[in-house]
Amino acid sequence: MKKIITLAGSSSKNSINKQLAEFTASLMQDVEIIKLDLNDYQLPLYSIDVENDEGFPADLLALDEIIEKADGIIISLAEHNGAYSAAFKNAFDWLSRINGKVWKNKPMLLLSTSPGARGGQSVMELALSRFPYGGGNIIGSTTFPSFYDNFKDGKVENLELNNKLVALTKDLNKTL
Ligand SMILES: Cc1cc2nc3c(=O)[nH]c(=O)nc-3n(C[C@H](O)[C@H](O)[C@H](O)COP(=O)(O)O)c2cc1C
Repeated sequence: MKKIITLAGSSSKNSINKQLAEFTASLMQDVEIIKLDLNDYQLPLYSIDVENDEGFPADLLALDEIIEKADGIIISLAEHNGAYSAAFKNAFDWLSRINGKVWKNKPMLLLSTSPGARGGQSVMELALSRFPYGGGNIIGSTTFPSFYDNFKDGKVENLELNNKLVALTKDLNKTL
């Protein structure tokens, strides 16, 4: 069975991006879902000195290996001050030191959400422009505005947004 990994660009225990990525994955047909959590990967704050002194952390190698073994990726990015969360940027930077093609050309759905009406539009724009240089094979993307208004009790209340996520997962399924 094809493996889809979900990842939130957040270190929040109750991450709304984690909820969105995992909900979106649940719409996929006949796949194994592997739910990743950045909190499970102990990565020191990236510094060339740490890298030179200590090499790659074991958890970094484990994360890279999981991406390598995946057939597809669903990632949802938290927006902090218009950009990636520090936790995500740190993981991204570490991964890029192993291989600049961080996402290994795996088919990817790129999502972002926030409590606000822009739904992480700024971090989405950042990732859409940057990920392709990092081996990001983005099949489709969407921001998901006003998370708490549109996502309730584990479901997407807004029909248009729900249809969008269903369409994206169908597109991802077709690439597997
Ligand atoms: C330091 C910080 C900066 C933030 N900056 C933004 C922002 O630029 N745009 C936005 O829509 N939300 C911003 N937020 C609110 C986040 O969207 C909100 O905390 C959201 O829950 C983050 O996603 P997560 O739950 O997946 O971590 C910020 C939150 C924090 C803590």
